Amino acid sequence: MMTINVVTLFPEVIAPVTRASIPGRAADAGLVRYRLVQLRDFTHDRHHTVDDYPYGGGAGMVLKPEPFFEAVESLGARGPIVLLSARGRPFTHDVAVRYSLEPELTLLCGHYKDVDQRVADGLATEEIAVGDFVLSGGEPAAICVIDAVVRLLPGALGDHESASGDSHYDGLLSPPSYTRPPEYRGQAVPEVLRSGDHAAIAAWRQAETERLTRERRPDLWATHQVIDRPSGG
Ligand SMILES: C[S@@+](CC[C@H](N)C(=O)[O-])C[C@H]1O[C@@H](n2cnc3c(N)ncnc32)[C@H](O)[C@@H]1O
Repeated sequence: MMTINVVTLFPEVIAPVTRASIPGRAADAGLVRYRLVQLRDFTHDRHHTVDDYPYGGGAGMVLKPEPFFEAVESLGARGPIVLLSARGRPFTHDVAVRYSLEPELTLLCGHYKDVDQRVADGLATEEIAVGDFVLSGGEPAAICVIDAVVRLLPGALGDHESASGDSHYDGLLSPPSYTRPPEYRGQAVPEVLRSGDHAAIAAWRQAETERLTRERRPDLWATHQVIDRPSGG
């Protein structure tokens, strides 16, 4: 069973995610357990102070290092200790796969202006960003990581095919999906999908996968071309 720890000022933001949908079902099935830790529980003053003014001046408050260190130590956490951070390396499918192979994963959520750099340098094993934008706190980022990792655990999805057919699984975007009705508000389902010709359907899906990736994610397409044709031929 995998253990996912989250150190946060807002466990109530994360908790519903751990009970619903695939992350919740995976916990019910014994594939994962979640430990949500309130950062304030690791303060020692009457006001449970977790932040302080930045050295050097400037606007905003900085989360202090001691509660993060003590929280992680109390968990006896093994495996990656990930600080969610806008200045982190990108969170990708490959990172999610790597985490899903670990017995334990610990996510540290920042808030306010920043987190004391000593958390990144002396506690976290890596810093991860879920996109090139700034969130108000690490909680939505932690939710992304939890969901993306847990759905990769063997048995988390009813049908493994649904993960292997997903975007990014093999480095490309997935083809579009349709269901009934065959026509809706003037938009028809592509004829080939209703043809029953499995070879033609597979060829259409592959063509759509390649078209969408080329058009929308030239970065992924370029990587795919290199992997597919290492000699450049
Ligand atoms: C307001 S942000 C701090 C941003 C920081 N001053 C900077 O410019 O990099 C507060 C917290 O939200 C989280 N956060 C913000 N953007 C994020 C992103 N793109 N990915 C992951 N976590 C993020 C981090 O935990 C961060 O400490």
